[in-house]
Amino acid sequence: MWRTQQLTAHGPRLTLRYPQTADARRLFELASNEEVTRYFSWGPYHQQGQAAEWIATLRSHRMDGSALEFAIADSGDEPIGVIAILEVSRRDRRCVIGIWIGRPYWGSGAGDESEALLAHIAFGPLRMERLGAWVDVNNPRSQHAFARLGFVNEGVLRAFQRHGDERRDLVAYSLLREEWEGSAMAQVPVEITGEAPPKFVCAPR
Ligand SMILES: CC(C)(COP(=O)(O)OP(=O)(O)OC[C@H]1O[C@@H](n2cnc3c(N)ncnc32)[C@H](O)[C@@H]1OP(=O)(O)O)[C@@H](O)C(=O)NCCC(=O)NCCS
Repeated sequence: MWRTQQLTAHGPRLTLRYPQTADARRLFELASNEEVTRYFSWGPYHQQGQAAEWIATLRSHRMDGSALEFAIADSGDEPIGVIAILEVSRRDRRCVIGIWIGRPYWGSGAGDESEALLAHIAFGPLRMERLGAWVDVNNPRSQHAFARLGFVNEGVLRAFQRHGDERRDLVAYSLLREEWEGSAMAQVPVEITGEAPPKFVCAPR
């Protein structure tokens, strides 16, 4: 059967590629740390099967346009975290970034490079005009990281997400195409290969 080549972004140190079944062990190890998942509606993982179950859902997310999820892989092709394009509105040419990185890699520059790789995909083959991020008001580390990359703080969205029975207030960040073009992220050398799943690609301008 003919198959399209999987969308991949290669940067100086890291690669974004689709997660595979074999990544379950490492993703389980990294996301079993409650520091990593404390601001999410899921986690921490307690068993490897939870990571495997998540990986098994990703192809359908790519097909139905609900999420385009990548493993952040190091030079040995080992996953160190996950980054995703979520909440796509092709009509409005916007999407939202989601990211987590394993605790040993915080402060290593991996977050910056992964976000640069994802921004190249969003503003490149996906033809987006706005890349957003929702960050918990109690997550100053992530707020600082997005602001440093040039994302603009648009204010607080009250009770925007629910984690179980708990309401969470989130800071809205966004980066517009012209802001991205002038940012350090746009200078990162990135090679994109493969084809983007059609439900994530905006019409030509
Ligand atoms: C968010 C995440 C990807 C950022 O990657 P990272 O490698 O930790 O980020 P960096 O170290 O590059 O940047 C964090 C910045 O916040 C700063 N910081 C850390 N704690 C802080 C605090 N309590 N208050 C203010 N700034 C803080 C750091 O000093 C650093 O800034 P600097 O480089 O200018 O000194 C990573 O921490 C992570 O995966 N966290 C868990 C999941 C998560 O929260 N995801 C984001 C959901 S929106």
